Amino acid sequence: MESQKLREARKYEKAMEVKIAAGERPAFHLSVRVGWMNDPNGFSYYNGEYHLFYQYNPYESVWGPMHWGHAVSKDLLHWEYLPAVLAPDTSYDKDGCFSGSAVELADGRQLLLYTGVKRNPRPDGGFEEIQTQCAAIGDGRNYEKCAENPLLTEKDLPVGGSRYDFRDPKIWKEENGNYRCVVGNCTPDRDGRILLYESEDGIHWRFVSILAENRGRFGKMWECPDFFELDGKHVLLVSPQDMMPKGFEYHNGNGTLCLIGDFDEETGRFLEEHDQAIDYGIDFYASQTLKTSDGRRIMIGWMQNWDSCNKNADDRIWFGQMSLPRELSVENGRLIQRPVRELEKLRGAEVRYENVVFSDTIRLDGIHGRRIDMEITLRPAAAEKMFRKFAVRFAQDEVCHTAVSFRPYEAILKVDRKFSGSRRAIIHQRRCLLGTKDGCLKLRLILDRFSAEIFVNDGEQVLSITYYTAQSADGISFYADGEVLMDIIKYDLN
Ligand code: FRU
Repeated sequence: MESQKLREARKYEKAMEVKIAAGERPAFHLSVRVGWMNDPNGFSYYNGEYHLFYQYNPYESVWGPMHWGHAVSKDLLHWEYLPAVLAPDTSYDKDGCFSGSAVELADGRQLLLYTGVKRNPRPDGGFEEIQTQCAAIGDGRNYEKCAENPLLTEKDLPVGGSRYDFRDPKIWKEENGNYRCVVGNCTPDRDGRILLYESEDGIHWRFVSILAENRGRFGKMWECPDFFELDGKHVLLVSPQDMMPKGFEYHNGNGTLCLIGDFDEETGRFLEEHDQAIDYGIDFYASQTLKTSDGRRIMIGWMQNWDSCNKNADDRIWFGQMSLPRELSVENGRLIQRPVRELEKLRGAEVRYENVVFSDTIRLDGIHGRRIDMEITLRPAAAEKMFRKFAVRFAQDEVCHTAVSFRPYEAILKVDRKFSGSRRAIIHQRRCLLGTKDGCLKLRLILDRFSAEIFVNDGEQVLSITYYTAQSADGISFYADGEVLMDIIKYDLN
């Protein structure tokens, strides 16, 4: 049964989406139907389609009462909006249906596991926000909240577990047919930890273990966990809040963290071996993965940033988009990300240059556009003469541009959106450290109207940023200080 709140949201989104012209949205990244979007939720393959739900406030382009929006796709790139599936309409989730995930049940129905948020007034006039794990079951279009809700409450927490920060369940099915989920939680001083639960039916759960603990290393509360096996290792993805910087690896604020190691089935503990950032750009958070029927592990994230969202002073009635779905692998203890291979099917006109030698600013015929897939391969023109700097500027007109620059001596790559039309004192630049000092570099830039994702050295590192310059700013130029030798292949993306 559709509640009144859900009915209103469905009516509203349908009436409002027509006010957003196709050209005013990203072309192949999912953006919010109308209003506000944050985390990807319930990313799954079900009944012959990819499903992507999302944290959703249809009514305003700022965060608010969380619903779940919904879209489906055959190829992870062309998305069709469907009616919203969850509204904050019951006693246990009246203040928000927070993030969660999806799994197919044994009987063929789909289960959505999410966090219900309920604010209780306190005698001092404030309120406390209680978070519990809840479920809704449906057919890929409509979902009914379970009578047993909430399924996981403070009773299911290990000693010291916070009932205020207990959220974002990620569910999967084990080979023996049981379900497991990981949930973000923290200690009384907000130190993040990830809890593991198990269930036979997806409804009745028991606590298994504290899978992983922050112990003060990476920020405070850990949000949006995901846990899976990949290439013989186990991978734990989390999004820590309140990070402190560490070298060029981690930066201040909400961050992304990938831990690689092994899972000890006996103790239910994750034995960490390596840590790294997931994305080194400005706009990426709350990642979630699915496994495709051909065995690929695909990750998607919210391509925005909590500290700088809502700071663009314009009247757009939508805010929020997802990253490109990315194929993951683990190679030599590192997480490698590549654009989902389906993207190659969108490739249209090709422009190619080989062995371009330059040492100042150049433009190349046919190299421009705001929806492109461009591969740049660089090296010093003469082995004994290292260049000092390389930069590519894109989304460029007389006034604006967005840039990626590379200083081989320092092995630093920088994204810069300072000149991308922003009037706010938000973060505009971010640097990351590369593994190479020999001046050889491979970049793959995927641009989609309002965003750039830069895949470095075949996916060893990725930097994602958003910017909102006019689409007419579609120029691209290259700059070198010292002699650079460059190959380029550019495809328009249709
Ligand atoms: C992460 C997050 C989640 C929460 C959701 C609320 O971005 O804070 O932890 O479930 O957003 O919208």
